[in-house]
Amino acid sequence: MRARADLVEVVGESVQLTRAGKDWKGKCPFHEDHTPSFYVVPNKGFYNCFGCGASGDVFTFVMKRTGMGFLDAVKALGERYGVTILETQGADEKGDPYRAYYEANAFARDWFRSRLLDPEVGAPARAYLEKRGIAHEAAERFELGYAPGDGKAFRQAAAAHEIPESLLLELGLLKTSERSPEPYDRFRSRVIFPIESVAGRIVGFGGRVLVSGGKAPKYLNSPESPIYHKGSVLYGLARSRNAIRREGVALVVEGYMDLVALGAAGIEHTVATLGTAMTEEHARLLGRYTLKALLLFDSDEAGLKATFRAADALLAQGIQSSVVTLPPGEDPDTVVRSEGAEGLEAYLNAAVDVLDRKLQLLDEKGYFRSVDRVRLAVDKLLPTLRATRDAALRDIYVSRVAERTGVRRETLESEIARPDARSGPTTGRGGDPSEARAPGGAFGRSRRRSPRADLSRLGAERQLLLILLREREWIVRALERVGPGEFLSPAYRSIFEALAADPELQGPPPGMAPESVAELEAMLGDPEVVEHAGQTFQDCLARLEDRPLDRQRRELEQDLRAAVSEEEKRVVLEKLDRLRRTRRGRWKTWSDGRGPSESAKTING
Ligand code: CTP
Ligand code: MN
Repeated sequence: MRARADLVEVVGESVQLTRAGKDWKGKCPFHEDHTPSFYVVPNKGFYNCFGCGASGDVFTFVMKRTGMGFLDAVKALGERYGVTILETQGADEKGDPYRAYYEANAFARDWFRSRLLDPEVGAPARAYLEKRGIAHEAAERFELGYAPGDGKAFRQAAAAHEIPESLLLELGLLKTSERSPEPYDRFRSRVIFPIESVAGRIVGFGGRVLVSGGKAPKYLNSPESPIYHKGSVLYGLARSRNAIRREGVALVVEGYMDLVALGAAGIEHTVATLGTAMTEEHARLLGRYTLKALLLFDSDEAGLKATFRAADALLAQGIQSSVVTLPPGEDPDTVVRSEGAEGLEAYLNAAVDVLDRKLQLLDEKGYFRSVDRVRLAVDKLLPTLRATRDAALRDIYVSRVAERTGVRRETLESEIARPDARSGPTTGRGGDPSEARAPGGAFGRSRRRSPRADLSRLGAERQLLLILLREREWIVRALERVGPGEFLSPAYRSIFEALAADPELQGPPPGMAPESVAELEAMLGDPEVVEHAGQTFQDCLARLEDRPLDRQRRELEQDLRAAVSEEEKRVVLEKLDRLRRTRRGRWKTWSDGRGPSESAKTING
């Protein structure tokens, strides 16, 4: 197994490694290392630090990094590399609390796959994939599957395997609704894309409809769950990380289909953000494998915005990013299919560094033609300069901007050092108590909050509607996660309903209650600019999505007070615990003495 466990891969998860001939080097994780003095020698299977003298093999590395004992380290690596270690009597069996979730997802993946391969059931999905240029071999490689349309086949199969329904509900594989309290399959008549964590376990699924244009949203994704946090998973990374290291660069695309289509064309060093914004965590994760990224997003206005935001997140992790510009209306999938892998290569070769791309675009829009506009251009460039963590790269950027704008380097430097004046107060989002974090933050050290638009002082309901009124097509994504029932304000609820019924909605529909009409008109006239709309959108959804959980919690707390026997209490406490894990990390624990009435106040956000 020592041979199977890839030392470079294991070390690479906590150390940024770069090539040094046949070997790899990076900053030593065992001492304060300022120059890369930590060497990994893959063909001998050992590492050595010339700074502090630490050395050993893959087991000693894991033991030292995690504090595990030898046996546990062997076991952990064994699990990852598919080698089973026979349990010896008495060996300590702590177990993974999430094991049952992973097993349920693994079952689902296998079942979806078997449906795709079934000669009859899977025929329409296979035909669809073929039409999109995904051959059998590629479908197998990405473990694609098919969820049939009847809405109960998965539930039955899972029941036959005695997988607890509560687990499947938590994972979002089954769901209930107001119309059907009886659980049914979330994914129906869809091609299924299993989403793997870097450790190679299935954390969630995406599903695409076979026929576009219907009422159903094009893509449906697993909701957040105890094992799935969208903001920290990059689709495809588990498979592509070695290719990314080998190539020295990662291609970042937006969609499942883009990644699979590139894979089918033999381009493997790709990850996908799945239509969400690139988060700090995404970038940090990617930074373990490479310090260079090529961004292949849509070339329209929204795509460019997403590109620049992603680039800022990547630059903040020391990852240099270049922008690939595809012809209007094309995405990586359509390009490889019409022009082949070589066709795409040509676009990749023409990639332009993100700062240069910003300068180009500003130039095209005439920003360098008059003094007052140059001033604006500088403001638009500053976030990228500020974000850039790599000191050398930042120097280069500053020179470029100085040259292009005529602003002196020193002036730029001091502007960079000044906190962003436009991002307003940074003390949380409108002081919402539900957002309070334990000192030190979730990761043991305090982290700077990303600047938010002022919009954040509004309630989640209004914020969400303001965003939806500007980004009409996002209603589809919103509906995947929250329904009108989650809105407490009747006026907002009916605006949401109206948008859901007609995303093109121009003015109030006939029959809308007067107070909703007034609200809607106020919103349409609201000049508020939505910066970071994508992130704010996700935040609002998460907050609304938590409301049913909050109701459940209050009910359980009542049950707890009413419980008489110890047994009853224990059952309720278990339910409460499960509920808390569902929203782990979002809010501070509420079992720590805060009364229900107090935490109830936080719901309105
Ligand atoms: N997405 C989503 N929900 C939607 C639309 C999109 O979650 N209703 C996510 C998916 O992860 C999707 C990505 O955003 O892969 C990119 O969306 P889009 O560009 O619209 O789709 P494509 O990937 O181009 O999908 P296809 O080629 O199958 O139409
Ligand atoms: Mn596409």
